[in-house]
Amino acid sequence: MTVKLNEQELIPVLSTENNLVSYEEAYKNFKWEDVEKEFSWSKTGKVNIAYEAVDRHVDEGRGDKVALLFRDAIREESYTFTQMKALSNKFGNALRSLGIKKGDRVFVFMPRSPELYVSYIGSVKIGAIVGPLFEAFMEAAVKDRLLDSEAVAIITTPALKSRVPVSELPALKHVILVGAEGELGEKELSFENLMAESSDELDIEWVDLEDGMQLHYTSGSTGKPKGVLHVHNSMIQHLQTGKWVLDLKPGDIYWCCADPGWVTGTVYGMWSPWLNGVTSVVRGGRFSPEDSYQTLEKYKVTVWYWAPTAFRLLMAAGDDLVKKYDLSAVRHILSVGEPLNPEVVRWGMKAFGKRIHDTWWMTETGAQLICNYPSMPIKPGSMGKPIPGVYAAIVDDEGNELPPYRMGNLAIRAPWPSMMRQIWNNRSKYEEYFRLKPWYISGDSAYKDEDGYFWFQGRVDDVINTSGERVGPFEVESKLVEHPAVAEAGVIGKPDPLRGEIIKAFISLRAGYQPSEELIKEIQEFVKKGLAAHAAPREIEFRDKLPKTRSGKIMRRVLKAWELGLPTGDLSTLED
Ligand code: WTA
Repeated sequence: MTVKLNEQELIPVLSTENNLVSYEEAYKNFKWEDVEKEFSWSKTGKVNIAYEAVDRHVDEGRGDKVALLFRDAIREESYTFTQMKALSNKFGNALRSLGIKKGDRVFVFMPRSPELYVSYIGSVKIGAIVGPLFEAFMEAAVKDRLLDSEAVAIITTPALKSRVPVSELPALKHVILVGAEGELGEKELSFENLMAESSDELDIEWVDLEDGMQLHYTSGSTGKPKGVLHVHNSMIQHLQTGKWVLDLKPGDIYWCCADPGWVTGTVYGMWSPWLNGVTSVVRGGRFSPEDSYQTLEKYKVTVWYWAPTAFRLLMAAGDDLVKKYDLSAVRHILSVGEPLNPEVVRWGMKAFGKRIHDTWWMTETGAQLICNYPSMPIKPGSMGKPIPGVYAAIVDDEGNELPPYRMGNLAIRAPWPSMMRQIWNNRSKYEEYFRLKPWYISGDSAYKDEDGYFWFQGRVDDVINTSGERVGPFEVESKLVEHPAVAEAGVIGKPDPLRGEIIKAFISLRAGYQPSEELIKEIQEFVKKGLAAHAAPREIEFRDKLPKTRSGKIMRRVLKAWELGLPTGDLSTLED
């Protein structure tokens, strides 16, 4: 399909932005190897991303600088790189005292807090592979991930521990509780006690660049969530995209609003700013427009990274609200996770006098790949261009590159430094991404214009993107059919002006059950409690029968066509 364009809108580089004439010019001869020289390991042959992100700043005289500015409803604290080094050393020693070693999987499952970051960095320092979990996950979601990865330890809180089904997790040896009071149960340990007993001097585990570092579970259209493994080598791209795309400078106060349960919250909430020695703001608690502006004002945030859904909510809250706050420190604004509507970019110019820079990447890519740089004109609605050192293309289903304006698979020439190295326990899923050599096939469809800008068109598969969170329809369907009233369920993403997409479920009921408002509420609660609040369908529609293939697979394509009032297309494989 060839795309027809309206006259293109262009927002030029502002005088307040990095005024490189053209990044293509500036980085013409760029090679990733050049970045390696930035790290101490290129001199010593030793590596650990946690050393480069934290300890190195202490060793090079920047230890007094604030690494983390944390605030939630109860606490307000700041931690220097020196303090972060000492605390993460203690935690690393604590894990070692429990016999945890290089390559072991350790999970963090708690609300945003300083302890989360201390645990994360401490685990990586001893060479463990860390998996972060959203605090919103319920038991089934936690269990799937810990079972698949055979995690040996989890760091969590008394409020969340009931969702860790210890007796069903044979590999799990330790449950480390932050803020435990009273008696500890079987396998439970107190974080505070462990910290008190441990030294703040640590023999860091020097690892290979290709050793595992973090494991982010993410959803596909079929099957259980996939464990996407990243290695220490990712630091090359985390550092460099922090410079080019986030435009980080030593004096910046940077705020990435994403939770570490999402890859944006680890890579761009922690690794990228800290590798660049920049102060990172972490705000606990729930989103609100007032609070967002307050946080920007209070900390004099200079660089701000958030998601389209949040910008749409801010836009809906109105321009008068923006005017109540002093946001003059903000220099650079970025967005990730879903298509950034041109309307939001225009609103950003009006409300903040700043361009919102869209960036595209995925859990699997490990870092930003297609971006709007501070130094380039923005075409509202476009994700931007590939960063230097990355070649992106639109290819057909055989892997042939397509010319400008032809829609097709968004593909990246493999490899790049932060590319995933494994899908945990699932070689064939991993290979699917690389089936059309030399390409990595993203699962997104897009086109490219004659200036090399990429334009997102949608997902090729059925993966739902609701408020920037990836939800696999299969996972939700599996939960739904566990409800006693549900015979069959098919789940789709329904376009929504605020959230991008919402989850809609089509359900056929078992004999003896009648559709009702109460039943809808009950089923929604069931998914919320069993899986996660964000995975619960906001809309449920009952149907006597769902469209299925002869092999019994529910045809989400047909459900989607029903929803959008479109022709249902080829139904030749339909059951009856
Ligand atoms: C979508 C994240 C449009 C896309 C960092 C991708 C986007 C999926 C953008 C990855 C963007 C991400 N414009 N769509 N700028 N960025 N996406 O792994 O479909 O949670 O494949 O993310 O989000 O989601 P993941």
